[in-house]
Order: sequence, then structure tokens, then C-alpha cells
Amino acid sequence: MRVLSVVGARPNFVKIAPLLREMAERPDIEPVLVHTGQHYDARMSDAFFEALAIPAPDFNLAVGSASHARQTAEVMMRFEPVLDTVRPDVVLVVGDVNSTMAATLVAAKHGIRVGHVEAGLRSFDRSMPEEVNRIVTDALANDLFVTEESAVVNLAREGIPAERVHFVGNVMIDALRLTRPLWEASTIFADRGLDGVDRYGVVTLHRPANVDDAHRFREIVGALHAVAQELPLIFPVHPRVRPRLDDAQTTWPRSGPLPPRGLVCTEPLGYLDFVALVSRAAIVLTDSGGIQEETTILGVPCLTLRENTERPVTVTHGTNRVIGVARSRIVDEARFALTHRPASLPPPPLWDGRAATRIVDTLIRAAVPVAA
Ligand code: UD1
Repeated sequence: MRVLSVVGARPNFVKIAPLLREMAERPDIEPVLVHTGQHYDARMSDAFFEALAIPAPDFNLAVGSASHARQTAEVMMRFEPVLDTVRPDVVLVVGDVNSTMAATLVAAKHGIRVGHVEAGLRSFDRSMPEEVNRIVTDALANDLFVTEESAVVNLAREGIPAERVHFVGNVMIDALRLTRPLWEASTIFADRGLDGVDRYGVVTLHRPANVDDAHRFREIVGALHAVAQELPLIFPVHPRVRPRLDDAQTTWPRSGPLPPRGLVCTEPLGYLDFVALVSRAAIVLTDSGGIQEETTILGVPCLTLRENTERPVTVTHGTNRVIGVARSRIVDEARFALTHRPASLPPPPLWDGRAATRIVDTLIRAAVPVAA
């Protein structure tokens, strides 16, 4: 069975790593990897391939950055001839980025079976580009692999037949568990003057709703400055956010010690260093989806700077609180999180590091081989 996996953006790389590793152990499977090139910077892409031991892609579509319509269209146009050449039995897509939806549309119209990993998550907020991508991808996919119970409910409500839905767990947590010895051995603490620092926080921001709206962005950064009076907040800056930052932030040079307080910007970090940093953080403030999940497993308090989450299990079974972006609320919630240890809860169901195994087992069972 030829399985063509598609990745495009940073979180996709984390999710595909355990799946490719699992497929490499199955003699029945011939894996093919397509990178759309949605993320292309060395720190957003190459560093993740290296840290997660992902084989070099068989095809790189090099679509780069553009408007949503153009980026989606470029992936579709460049992916179609690849599909004609490879003629896979299954196209496997992960997550909710533009590349996920674009590849799904092309494969579905070619009559090729599509498996969607991380299906069924819903924020019920269609102003998020990812929500549109999720809805379209799930409507077209044949096998929907879900990470949490809420997704099963969402897909049933949308009329997706239950036999297409497979509750398998979370491949992002597979990746976190598989690489634990590596990120535990990260030298970031020694290399970057963090060894003597007893308390710091980590910040990530990249959602268009937060960073492209000047008022909202000012409100968030103001709150972060206030929280950073109490402990240093390390902020690895996503490329889309860099132009929006003024000079009010401190920069953490690669060779210098961490300042004792303040919002401290640094370049995007590699996967292993980033997870290592989060694992010892006193608090994480983020608008990412995956980081809500990782902090849940790492037992680190997470404040989600959004009005909603498509991952409610991280609130009910984890350390996540969804708090919006009002300045006073962020400051109050951060103070609370810094003084109250989160309850120690068992992980969400099936977040046990075996999701990739279940997915590959299901693909093999469901496959209808096409004639060569
Ligand atoms: C994308 C995903 C988002 C995911 C995020 C992880 C969509 C709709 N969004 O958002 O769901 O959480 O990736 O990071 O697919 N840029 C670079 N170098 C890069 C990549 C991007 O400089 O390697 C800059 C470009 O200016 C680009 C901007 O970042 O215009 C946004 O990149 P894009 O891939 O469009 O969306 P993300 O914000 O990264």
C-alpha cells in the first residue's frame, strides 16, 4: 500500500514524525512524503525535520507564503501532478493548515482515499482560517482520526457516518513521548544562561486574530509586559509577528544570560529546545493549539489567549485555561497560575504514545488497493 503523506507547516512536521516512523516498520507500506513548502525558513522547517528524524521529502512543492487563496491554489496546482505520478492508495493529511485542506481537495477529486489525522476539532469560530480548513477537510476525508471525545461528537453532529471516525489518541503526544530522552538532554539551559534561573514563563503568539489586529496585539503585549515584571517571559517570535514588534521588548542574545525579568524575545526555537523550555516553565501563555496539548501532558499551567479552544479536553483533563485577551484578565490569571499548582490529573484518554500505531493499523485494515 502506497501512503502519500502531506506536510506544510511547523505543527504538521511534529505530527507526521511518529506516523512515518511507524510506517517505516510495516513491510506492507510504501511511504511517500510531500512537503508543500508552506513553511520554508530553516528554523520553521529544516530544524524540525532534523530534530524529529523525518526523512527528506520525496517532493517539495515550494509554495511559500501568499494570501490564503493563492497559497491554497498553489498547493492544489502543484500537488495534482505529484498525485498523478505517485498514484497512492491513501493520502494522509494532518492538522488544519492550508496545505491540509488543499491536498485533501485534490485527492478527493481524484477519487483517492484520504485519511485526516486530528479530525473533528471545532472552535465554532469561522473567522479562524483553521476552522474553515477543518470543516472542508473532514467533509471530504474517508478516515477521520480523532484525538478526543469532543471531536467524535462534532463529527456526528455534522452527519459524518460513525464508521469513518476512529478515536485513536494524539500523535503530537506520541512525538513528545518518543523524543523525551532527546529533549530532556537539551543543552538550551546551559547554552543560554538558564541554569541558575529558578522561574520563567514561555510565550507564543501567531494567530492572525491576535497579531494582525493592532488593538488586540497592543492589549496582549501590554499584559505580557505587566506579567513580566514578576518573572522573565521568553518569547520565541514567529516570523509573521516579527514586523509587528516595536523596540519595547528585550532581545535574548544566543550567548547572553536571560534577563531577570521582562518580555524577552528570541528567534523561533527548534522542537527539542522548545519542549525542554516548556517542560520546566512556571507558566505558558499561548494562542497555539498544539501547545495546549503539550502543556497538558507536561503538567505546566497554560493560559490560552483566545476566546475559545477546539481542544476542550485540555481544559477538562489538563492544565489549560482559556482566558481571552483582556489585559487585566491575563494579569490576574497569570498571578493565580503562578501561585497555585495545577491538580495532577491522568492524561486524556488514549494520549498514551500509541496513536500512530492505531492509525497505521486502521489504514491497513481499510485499504482497498488500486490496480497498479
Ligand atoms: C500556519 C497555519 C497555522 C499554524 C501555523 C504554525 C494556516 C492557515 N495557518 O500559520 O494553523 O498554527 O502555521 O506556525 O495554514 N513566514 C516566514 N517563514 C516561514 C513561514 C512563514 O517568514 O517559513 C511568514 C510569512 O511572512 C508568512 C507568514 O509568516 O506570510 C504566515 O505564514 P503562513 O504559513 O501563511 O501562516 P502561519 O501564521 O505560519
